[in-house]
Amino acid sequence: MTKQITVSAPGKLMLLGEHAVVYDRPCLVTAVGQRMKATITLTESPFFELNAPDVNVANYRKPISALLSGEVPKGAKFVEVAVANFFGKYPLKSGGIKIETNSEFSAEFGFGSSSASTVCTIKALSEITGANLDQKAIFDLAYKTVLDIQGKGSGFDVAAATYGGTLYFVTGGKVIEPLKVENLPIVVGYSGIKVDTVTLINQVSEKAKKYPEVIEAIYDQIKNLVEKAKKAVLEKDWATVGELMNINEGVLSALGVESQKLADMIYAAREAGAYGAKLSGAGIGDCMIAFTPTENRDKINQSITNAGGKVIDVQINVEGVRIENV
Ligand code: MEV
Repeated sequence: MTKQITVSAPGKLMLLGEHAVVYDRPCLVTAVGQRMKATITLTESPFFELNAPDVNVANYRKPISALLSGEVPKGAKFVEVAVANFFGKYPLKSGGIKIETNSEFSAEFGFGSSSASTVCTIKALSEITGANLDQKAIFDLAYKTVLDIQGKGSGFDVAAATYGGTLYFVTGGKVIEPLKVENLPIVVGYSGIKVDTVTLINQVSEKAKKYPEVIEAIYDQIKNLVEKAKKAVLEKDWATVGELMNINEGVLSALGVESQKLADMIYAAREAGAYGAKLSGAGIGDCMIAFTPTENRDKINQSITNAGGKVIDVQINVEGVRIENV
């Protein structure tokens, strides 16, 4: 049996469909080339050990039999619950494990570092124990882990980390359809504002309780936008994708998840010649995206910077979780 394995998984960027995708509607998501890495080593003593410098976890250690008991530090949660869920299904016969995670990206960007580290943990355990789970089984166990901790979420980030590429995705993995895409003419701007996704999901759900038919109608409109954008992406019709993104931003604003800062960056990108621009993710903070004609790219980058954003140079449509070395 292999003693040590390193795997990596990408982050994600929502293209269209956020919030509605929590409620049985589709979204479009692409995997970004900033990766989370996890190295798992099988050890002789029956302990779970974790080092995760990016989230301030150093030499965290407990018996395998005590997984999930006692106080679990915030930075250790996703990995520990993933390990417990994995061993709940595929028990470790003897010994223990040591895990080290490292991220190429800041957790601040909202690229989905928790989901990527969860997917890495399940994939590495699957390989090192010989369980050899397929992509859907990795997705299911990692999504269960995220729900165990957060209680809410569509799983689109888990799907991006697992499958990579660009996906048409429906809540909980009911549909996970890889789209044949070579590249997307995208610019990403970071707002500098940190947001808590679950808090924003809850805010939107409060609105849905108050005005159910209004908000459900918005979710249905978002579904229509995603279906049209899927077709336009496959046809490389970027002008149409941009127009649909602008409409999507309008309804996200109606849901209350736009902020002045994101709006400034989005309008600046549009005025500088983008096909379209919108927030990406839970809203209020994190990132915005713009689809841009090549000739306007520099101007658009500058306009986002002038609006107080930070342009992040990322590859998109990258490979999903993969083995780095054994
Ligand atoms: C957050 O990045 C996107 C949401 O749709 C939540 C989710 O899909 O899990 C708001």
